[in-house]
Amino acid sequence: MGKTPEETKVVMTELVLPNMTNLLGNLLGGELMHRMDIAGALACMRHSGAQVTTVAVDAIEFKHPVRLGEMVSVEAKLVWTGKTSMKVKITATAENLATGAVIVTNVAMFTFVAMGRDGRKITVPKLLPQTDEEKSDFEREERAYLLRRGAHQPQDGSDDKR
Ligand SMILES: CC(C)(COP(=O)(O)OP(=O)(O)OC[C@H]1O[C@@H](n2cnc3c(N)ncnc32)[C@H](O)[C@@H]1OP(=O)(O)O)[C@@H](O)C(=O)NCCC(=O)NCCS
Repeated sequence: MGKTPEETKVVMTELVLPNMTNLLGNLLGGELMHRMDIAGALACMRHSGAQVTTVAVDAIEFKHPVRLGEMVSVEAKLVWTGKTSMKVKITATAENLATGAVIVTNVAMFTFVAMGRDGRKITVPKLLPQTDEEKSDFEREERAYLLRRGAHQPQDGSDDKR
């Protein structure tokens, strides 16, 4: 049974501690990416009810540091589903607990594939976008998927897996 993007939403929140930071007192990029990966996987597991594996990550930029003592939150929400793959938008924010200021530090798209316990790919339920924004996100990702597939497929379409 498909879920709406809102129903797939997962938020992970944590205090940035010294063992998570570099020598400048900023959250390590790898620490943040690990949390993004886990939150994305959880959203996909919630949607599909299956085990998932990360197959692709779009570009991630680190424009704003998350500082020691701040609250880092990672929100993951599905934007698109294919046959076995799911695309998740992941937004990381940093909150300064003294001032209450919140900034978005990173936005990235992760793609996961659903796997059965036998290690084979399995079909996922279709995502059910509700709002205009969710519908438009879904259509944009569907176009990107078709373009990417077109680029990896023989002209006669003989490799069609859908
Ligand atoms: C993920 C994995 C199972 C895919 O297996 P595969 O036989 O290569 O699968 P396919 O080429 O048929 O792709 C499966 C799905 O992933 C999607 N996919 C594959 N490469 C992709 C990419 N670069 N970007 C986005 N989606 C991608 C395909 O479009 C397909 O989606 P669909 O079923 O919705 O049409 C396999 O590549 C794997 O095990 N990779 C290692 C995963 C891992 O260990 N991740 C942790 C990081 S170390």
